[in-house]
Amino acid sequence: MTICFFIANFITTIYNKSLFFIRTSVRYASSLNDYQPTNRGSGSPAGALSSHVRGTMMLRKLHRISALLLAVFAIVHIINHLVGLAGLEAHIAFMHSFRAVYRYPLVEAMLLAAVTFQIFSGLLFVVRGWKHRRGFIPWLQAGSGAYLAFFFLNHVGAVLFGRSALLLDTNIYYAAAGLYVHPFQYFFAPYYFLAVLAFFTHSGCALYWQFPAKSRFARQLAVSLPVVLGFGVSLLIVLMLSGKFYPIEIPTEYKATFGARS
Ligand code: HEM
Repeated sequence: MTICFFIANFITTIYNKSLFFIRTSVRYASSLNDYQPTNRGSGSPAGALSSHVRGTMMLRKLHRISALLLAVFAIVHIINHLVGLAGLEAHIAFMHSFRAVYRYPLVEAMLLAAVTFQIFSGLLFVVRGWKHRRGFIPWLQAGSGAYLAFFFLNHVGAVLFGRSALLLDTNIYYAAAGLYVHPFQYFFAPYYFLAVLAFFTHSGCALYWQFPAKSRFARQLAVSLPVVLGFGVSLLIVLMLSGKFYPIEIPTEYKATFGARS
């Protein structure tokens, strides 16, 4: 009787432990947004799955490394826009000094490579994990990442086009011109607002996973603080660009890029 009780107890413990293991693995896999058993590769299904998961984990590692490089640029870039609160001259002077670093050919090549890699790897994660993603944070991470990919394509594309095809100095006037030509302000105000907010939100989601699941408060703080901060910073930048703090006179050649004559 005692032996039966012991065996039953043992089996129940093992069963509970395996359930916990399976649940944790699935949650981990869905946090990677990548759990997709496929028959790619060869050999046993287990071998194919593990090489697939290993490949995705490597891609995710590279995504993080490239994100770090981009984040360093983006933080200084956003500070550059905040400096604009002190006036356009301060903004332009800051950008001139910062350009000496990021326009250095090797640095710019690395930055553009990181942007390109980030767009493709990010979109791959969004699409692959579509059916397996569960919960608010994974969807917030995917949504903010997808918006950043859309923004990067447009924003960096527009900057490169402005420099090489329009032969313009792609400064603050170039970025703000759309806000001064009707009806483009309805596109550019939310476009810039969401870009800065998405950057903060996406970074907050990445921070969220750095805390263990049991530290719920730390995890909530890791997302909510960046989101609130991002909201404030986005609002300040868009109001500044729209000339709400001081008047901004956009030179004609910049407005002309949107078809305006004066
Ligand atoms: C209100 C929002 C923003 C404005 C007004 C803005 C404006 C600009 C301007 C004027 C440039 C050209 C810089 C130059 O010619 O030297 C630029 C470049 C760039 N921006 Fe933004 N930006 C904004 C938000 C962001 C965000 C949130 C990110 C990233 C998360 C970002 C990433 C980049 C990148 C990667 C470049 C290309 C740098 C290069 O290689 O020349 N921007 N931006």
